[in-house]
Amino acid sequence: MTHENSPFTPGYPVPIEFFVGRKSQIDLLLKKIISASTGRLQIAFLCGERGIGKSSLAYFVKILSERNHHFVGIHNYLGGVTSLTVMVRRILDNLLNESVDKAWHEKIIQSFKNHVKRVGLFGVSLELDIDPKDLDHTVNNFAPTLHKISDQLKTAEKKGLLVILDDINGLASSAEFAHWIKSLVDTIATSDKNIPLCLLLVGLEERRQSLVKLQPSLSRVFDIIDIAAWSDDESKEFFSEAFSKVNVDIEQKALENMVFAAGGLPVMAHEIGDAVFNIDKDNYIDGDDAYKGIFNAADIVGRKHLEPQVFKAIQSKKYRSILKKVATKPFGFEFQRKEVIEILGRPEEKVFDNFLTRMTELGVIIRSPEKGKGYYKFRNLLHYLYFLITAGKTKNTISASK
Ligand SMILES: Nc1ncnc2c1ncn2[C@@H]1O[C@H](COP(=O)(O)OP(=O)(O)OP(=O)(O)O)[C@@H](O)[C@H]1O
Ligand SMILES: [Mg+2]
Repeated sequence: MTHENSPFTPGYPVPIEFFVGRKSQIDLLLKKIISASTGRLQIAFLCGERGIGKSSLAYFVKILSERNHHFVGIHNYLGGVTSLTVMVRRILDNLLNESVDKAWHEKIIQSFKNHVKRVGLFGVSLELDIDPKDLDHTVNNFAPTLHKISDQLKTAEKKGLLVILDDINGLASSAEFAHWIKSLVDTIATSDKNIPLCLLLVGLEERRQSLVKLQPSLSRVFDIIDIAAWSDDESKEFFSEAFSKVNVDIEQKALENMVFAAGGLPVMAHEIGDAVFNIDKDNYIDGDDAYKGIFNAADIVGRKHLEPQVFKAIQSKKYRSILKKVATKPFGFEFQRKEVIEILGRPEEKVFDNFLTRMTELGVIIRSPEKGKGYYKFRNLLHYLYFLITAGKTKNTISASK
C-alpha cells in the first residue's frame, strides 16, 4: 500500500490545520490584538522551553490576526542577530516581502518612497535600499517609522501591526537591545500619535530574565505569556487528528504509548509521529509500530536536537547508564543525589559526582534548591524525555502491546 506524505513537521512551526491546544494563550493574545487596534500599544513576552511551540503559537496568532482582525503580521526570526541595525533591517525587509501580492503592497512601497530594490534570482525578493546613516537614523527613530507605516496601512483598511521578534537569543544579552525596547515603548506611550501596534517577543524564560536584568523597568512592560506542556488529552488529539488526516488508524495502546513518550512536548510528538509513520506499512499503527517508531525517534532526537557537547559527553557508557537510571522511576524529572547513589553500581557511583558537575555545566540538569538539599532536575523536557525513552529500550518503560 502506498503512503501519503507524513502529516508531521518536526523542526518547523506547525501548519495551522494541525495546530492543537493553547486556547487560553490564544485568547489572551487576541485580546491584545483587539486592544492594539484601538491604538493602545501592547507588548508581550511569549516564553516556554525549547520545542514547546512558541514559534508555532506566534505564527498561529499572526494568521488569526490577519484573517479576523485586519492586521498585518510580520514574523521575524532573529536567531544569530546581535545588532539593532540588522534587526530593524530584517523587520522592514520582512514587511516589504510580506506585502507582495497583497492589496496594501503599493501603500507600503509608498511609505518607503524609492528606498526599495528587487534582489535575488529573477528579482523575486524586495530589500530596503538604504545607506548605513539612514538605517542608523531609522533604528533610533523607530516609533515614527512605525507610525508612518501604520498610517499607510490604515488607508488600506488595515487595523494594526503585529510585530513578532522570535528567537531573540543573540539580542537578549545586549543592553543596547534592552534599552531600545524600553525607549521604543516610552516614546510610543508618551507620543500624541497612536500606533496600533502589538509587539510580541518570543524566547526562553532565561532570555526574558536576561533582558529584565539589563533594563529592570522592562519587567513592568512585558505581559508574560507562558506555554506549558500539552495535557495527555491534547497529545492524544494531536496524534489522532494527524494520523486520521492521512487515513491511518491507531490501536488504543499504541496511541497511549506515543502520548506517554511525547511527554506533552510538541517537538517530541512530531519526531515520534514522523518516525512511527515511516515504520508503518499497512495504514494501521499497532503496538509494534509505535514501539519501534518511538525508539527511532529517540535516536533522531539525540542526533538532531541534543547539543553536540551533550551528545559527546553521553557517549560515556557510565554516564549513559546513570542518566537512564535517573530519568526513570522511582525518580523522573527530579531526583535527589543520595537516593540515586543507593541504586547505582560501584563503577557508576565512583563517577557520579563528576557526572553531576559535568551535566550541570552542560545544562542537562540544574540544582533544585527549592526542593531541598542535593536535589537536581532536568533543565528541560527534551533532555528528560530523550533519556526516558532511551532507558525504555532496556527497561521496557514503554511497553509494546504485542
Ligand atoms: N500547538 C501545536 N500543535 C501542533 N504542533 C505543534 C504545536 N506547537 C508546536 N508544534 C510542533 O512542535 C515543534 C516545535 O514547535 P516550535 O518550533 O513552534 O517550538 P519553539 O518553542 O518555537 O521551539 P524553539 O525553542 O526551538 O524555538 C514543531 O515541529 C511544531 O510543528
Ligand atoms: Mg521557535
